[in-house]
Parts: sequence; structure tokens; C-alpha cells
Amino acid sequence: QAQLVETSKRLAAFQAVKDYLKPEYTRIGIGSGSTVVYVVEAIAALGPAVTSTMAFYPTGAQSEELIEAAGLRLQYISKLPADQQLDVAFDGADEVDDDLNLIKGGGACLWQEKIVAASARQFVCVADFRKLSSRLGTAWKKGIPIEVLPMAAPRVLGELRRLGSLDPCIRPGLPGKAGACVTDNGMWIIDAPFPPLLLSGDAEAAAADPRPVGTWTVDELADRLIKIPGVAEIGLFYGKNGLQVASGAQKPVAAYF
Ligand code: A5P
Repeated sequence: QAQLVETSKRLAAFQAVKDYLKPEYTRIGIGSGSTVVYVVEAIAALGPAVTSTMAFYPTGAQSEELIEAAGLRLQYISKLPADQQLDVAFDGADEVDDDLNLIKGGGACLWQEKIVAASARQFVCVADFRKLSSRLGTAWKKGIPIEVLPMAAPRVLGELRRLGSLDPCIRPGLPGKAGACVTDNGMWIIDAPFPPLLLSGDAEAAAADPRPVGTWTVDELADRLIKIPGVAEIGLFYGKNGLQVASGAQKPVAAYF
């Protein structure tokens, strides 16, 4: 199974790069996680003839190292002029639903990932076959990753329970390291499991009224979570797809498995 998963990630990555990385592009977003390693491999395989005119924008420390190790040119999103966009951004996901809404943040990089995705004209998701499910929360059972200011964490946990999260918890640091997982931005992550999230406007959502406690559509829950004081960003990438990025959308235009 492990070998199958790696093969699936690699094939998906090479296909996504083949379809979405055009030689005329100059600004490319590179996400985080183990699948993106293959995306960078696929890009580097194109050789300097194609990549030397491109700059690559990371979503965190791991992604920055990947770009540099592959000999690609590193640039930062903080240097991107407000009136410019990345041509395309590639990133992994922890789960992808039928509507291409995503759960991200299993690697604690969600905040920068969302900024990079929203800065790109096209956002392309690359994942292995285990990540696809009809409803978020079915395949990825650890919960929605939520980046929080550490001092607000206890209060945010209380709010999450009130919204119907089943046993939300502060993500621990690496094994053998005391304390919480600290993000690249000095924040903590809360993992908040919810019952499987309904798709906006699907028949199930309309029929189940009143809904059982804790049952939300992706958009409803995202709107609630992001408004909790102390929440910096949430690991739901949702809303309109990436072609409408001018309005701050975060969903991919395509997902490869
Ligand atoms: C990082 O915070 C995440 O959003 C990753 O993109 C996601 O966890 C996918 O990681 P893998 O490619 O390692 O599964």
C-alpha cells in the first residue's frame, strides 16, 4: 500500500505539472507536505531551459528548503506587488470533496498556504487516491486544522465544542518534544473534528432541517470558524474556485490524484 501511495502521488504530480505549468509562466507557488516533493521533482526535471525564467514562492520553511534544494529560484510572497498574481500554485491536501473543497493543514502550514493559493490565478491540488472523499471529514478523521493564537486556545476550544466539534484538541509537538506544535508563524494548531461536512446547496443540506448539532455545510462552518476571536486561519479551503481569485477564493481549479 505504501508503495502504491507514493506512486500515486508522483504520477499525479507529474501530470499536474505537465498540464498546468506553462513555459511562459514566471511566478509559481509551491505548497507544503510530502506530495509537493514530487511536484518540485517534476518541475526540476524540466531543466533550466524552462525553469530559469521562473521564481518559486514557498508556503513555509519546508517548502523553502525544497525549492532551494532543487536549484530553483526562491522568491517571497511578501515581495509580490499588490496588483500582481502568481501564474499558478501547486499544493497537496489532506482531503478533497466532490466540490473540490479541501481540508489542509495536516503539516501545520495552512496559513501561508492559503495566502499563496489566494494569490495565484490558478491553484492546482495534487494528492493521492486516499484523499478523495465525497464529504470532508470522512477520510481525514483528525479534524479541521485551525491555527490559533496560543493565549486564545482554551477559549477557542470552548467555542468549537459549542459549534458541535467532537473533542477538539491542541496539536502536540513532535514526539519527544514537550509542548504544543508551533507553526512557522509562532501559532498553535487545534484539530477540530466535525461530522462530515455537507456541500453547499446539496439536497442533503436542504432536507436535513433542522440539522443535527454540529452538522454544517462547508461554507457555513468556515464562516463561523474564521470569526472566532483568536483564530488566525482555518484549514478549510472553500468557496468559489480559483479562477475567481480576485475575490479571495481558495479552492483549486483542478485536483489530481
Ligand atoms: C500542510 O499543512 C498541508 O496542508 C499539506 O498540504 C497536506 O497535509 C498534504 O500533505 P501530504 O502531501 O504530506 O499528504
